Amino acid sequence: MSALFTPFKLKDVTLRNRISVPPMCQYSAIDGVTNDWHWTHYPTLARGGAGLVIVEATAVLPEGRITPGCTGLWNDAQAEGMARIAASIKAAGAVPGIQIAHAGRKASANRPWEGDDHIPADDPRAWQPIAPSAIAFGANLPRVPRAMTLDDIARVKQAFVDAARRARAAGFEWLELHFAHGYLAQSFFSIHSNQRTDAYGGSLEGRSRFLVETLAAVRQVWPENLPLTARFGVIEYDGRDEETLAESIELTRKLRGEGLDLLNVSVGFSIPGAKIPWGPAFLAPISARVRREAGVPVASSWGVDIPRVAERVIAEEQMDLAMIGRAHLADPHYPYRAAQHLKLDRPSWVLPAQYAYWLERYQPDPQARDCGD
Ligand SMILES: Cc1cc2nc3c(=O)[nH]c(=O)nc-3n(C[C@H](O)[C@H](O)[C@H](O)COP(=O)(O)O)c2cc1C
Repeated sequence: MSALFTPFKLKDVTLRNRISVPPMCQYSAIDGVTNDWHWTHYPTLARGGAGLVIVEATAVLPEGRITPGCTGLWNDAQAEGMARIAASIKAAGAVPGIQIAHAGRKASANRPWEGDDHIPADDPRAWQPIAPSAIAFGANLPRVPRAMTLDDIARVKQAFVDAARRARAAGFEWLELHFAHGYLAQSFFSIHSNQRTDAYGGSLEGRSRFLVETLAAVRQVWPENLPLTARFGVIEYDGRDEETLAESIELTRKLRGEGLDLLNVSVGFSIPGAKIPWGPAFLAPISARVRREAGVPVASSWGVDIPRVAERVIAEEQMDLAMIGRAHLADPHYPYRAAQHLKLDRPSWVLPAQYAYWLERYQPDPQARDCGD
């Protein structure tokens, strides 16, 4: 039996396999509200057979969007569109998840295919980003954020709580807090972006405070029987990796104590020019270490899409879930393809009957099917 296709139970939720679609921004919303693009994109992914489909980074406040096209969950119109998405993912047999986020100093940017840079401050589409300290990310994101006051911190934490409540009311069963990728929460944790001298900066405890308090507050409103997870960049590849990793594991233990059920292990992306060792499953040994030392189930992504690699990282317990991103954009039926590659007896069973029935009776052999006119 394949490890990748073994169900995974976390709290009262059971995923049909270990393949998950990670959050992937579509940059296609208007005023944070979803539309036909999202309403077809997400159920298509779910029909492909993944156990879990996590909806893209969804901003808890307007200023927390990465781009003007990002989805939001700060009002009821947005929640209505999201309810449609959650229901369609569930109807296709996957568990509906959502990532809630605040982009911090990386907010107010153009879509990736329209520049991927900060919108000029005098452009009417731009807004003022906020962050723990008035330090810009740099490179393509040079805009200096406004340093947050204690009132700002309380307001953003409350916005995470409100968005979590809306996500649950919309039917999501898996919540991921976006604490990664140099966005707001990660930038509280990172010494590269946090130079505060109050209780939210300085020591490991101070730099962890925003993340710990936010997760604890969300746990109060997110049902105890459903998974509360976070995505966090445990390493920066900035030359002080061992220290960062040790701190990250300490933070993860603390989050676990406040009710974290699983960590989606990622990279910090807090500085431009980090020396990231891109390659198949390069984060797997790190996610295995976090899993072991912090004592929480983990998911991870970045190049685990080669089916035998995905199978291996699960079989060797380097991670509990394989997050397969871009390969799902290339082929929403990725789980079917993976099952074929792994030579499972009936690869089509991962698909709905409407497709599986036919594919059990059809051998895709392009040469045999050459129409040759
Ligand atoms: C189009 C696109 C959008 C993404 N948006 C998000 C996002 O909203 N939140 C997030 O945590 N990661 C985001 N990511 C990162 C993915 O979740 C994933 O970690 C990354 O694609 C690496 O996995 P892969 O090698 O399987 O593609 C995005 C990636 C892509 C390609």
